[in-house]
Amino acid sequence: MRTLDQIAVEGGTRLQGEVRVHGAKNAALPILAASLLADGVCVIEDVPDLQDIRVMVDILKALGAAVEYNPPVVKVDARRVSQTEVPERLMRQMRSSIFLMGPLLARHGRARVSRPGGCTIGSRPIDLHLKGLMALGASVEERHGFIDCRADRLRGGAVYLDTPSVGATENLMMAAVLAEGTTVIGNAAREPEIADLADFLNRIGGHVEGAGEDTVVIHGVKGLAGGRHRIIPDRIVAGTLAIAAAMAGGDVVLRHVRPRHLGAVLTKLREAGVEIEVGRDIMRVRSDGRLRAVEQVRTAPYPGFPTDLQAPFMALLCVAEGMSIVTETVFEERFKHVGELRRMGANIRVDLRTAFIQGVPGLTGAVVQASDLRAGAALVLAGLVAKGTTIVEHAYHIDRGYERFDEVLSSLGARVRRLRQP
Ligand code: UD1
Repeated sequence: MRTLDQIAVEGGTRLQGEVRVHGAKNAALPILAASLLADGVCVIEDVPDLQDIRVMVDILKALGAAVEYNPPVVKVDARRVSQTEVPERLMRQMRSSIFLMGPLLARHGRARVSRPGGCTIGSRPIDLHLKGLMALGASVEERHGFIDCRADRLRGGAVYLDTPSVGATENLMMAAVLAEGTTVIGNAAREPEIADLADFLNRIGGHVEGAGEDTVVIHGVKGLAGGRHRIIPDRIVAGTLAIAAAMAGGDVVLRHVRPRHLGAVLTKLREAGVEIEVGRDIMRVRSDGRLRAVEQVRTAPYPGFPTDLQAPFMALLCVAEGMSIVTETVFEERFKHVGELRRMGANIRVDLRTAFIQGVPGLTGAVVQASDLRAGAALVLAGLVAKGTTIVEHAYHIDRGYERFDEVLSSLGARVRRLRQP
């Protein structure tokens, strides 16, 4: 449920301590959708306790799956799924419900979904999803805001994605895994969450090769069984906490992380003067809070700098000494945090998709509004270094991607509290 909770931050404390990073939302969502493909029970571990996950669980239930959700474990038995239409009410709450198309079509020959809602960070088309499904033999009709896909039997085919879309790559992998023959996805997205989906599909009997590279090959199989899978750590949450520690100053150890999934981000943090030590699944971030500007941050598909960390990193650059330049190449409207950061005293100029950030010695607390998930996190981070109190309104956006963000930061010594609104 969306409440109008706010997050209040008193700036000026260092962060110190250790945190375990939760499982990746963006890996868990497609994997939960993919459990619809299995002819057996799937047990998914390390699923984060987040609003988007609860919506996905409700969708699976509405379709007829038996789902037990005891965070961080979700158990799905989709053997008695009978519905192929995703209820509009749920679809509207989360853009990722588009992931249901591939599995429903592959398993039941039909999928009816309404055009998805979601973040307000750009137009976010789904043409690549639809073109890909058509290349596998599906018919697609779109009327009155609904998309109706049908196929008696999907057939493997060659699909080339004009843009390496994460969601389209995942949707097509899920559709192709039960198709007749082999599917080759060219210019596929390479995000770690795609490799995690492939690991899950292969664990339950699929035959997917090349996930994590730019060509994914899926050999269709006749059926999939149940199985157990553990979700990878959330690289965006890990990155956000690393940025928080860098800004506030302090010494923070992040456990249950994969530093190799954060290559571009760690490079930029080091350029800003942050000390980072990494192990296989652990990372230590140390900073005295005095940061240097970073000449160029350019978001790009993985392994480039993640668009999901653009806003949090910009919050850091607001207080770094010198002029930094940030270019957003993935989503066209992802600078909504700029106006709010300016309210806190940041000096930012935007020219189309590029932001020029002149670091200021300090920010001041203000009432600001989260426009989307990552923008919301960025404002909380800005609050950590601002003088006085920052109130971030519309905290429900933050709750879509960060499990108990306020409590995690408080456990590190930040003065952050949730102001519950009735
Ligand atoms: C996923 C992530 C999101 C992240 C994004 C980019 C999930 C649940 N969400 O979103 O957090 O910000 O990747 O890393 O995993 N595009 C098209 N046509 C399409 C699909 C996409 O033109 O059919 C374009 C989009 O407008 C955008 C770009 O491709 O400019 C990348 O989008 P995409 O990778 O699909 O993002 P999502 O999968 O929606």
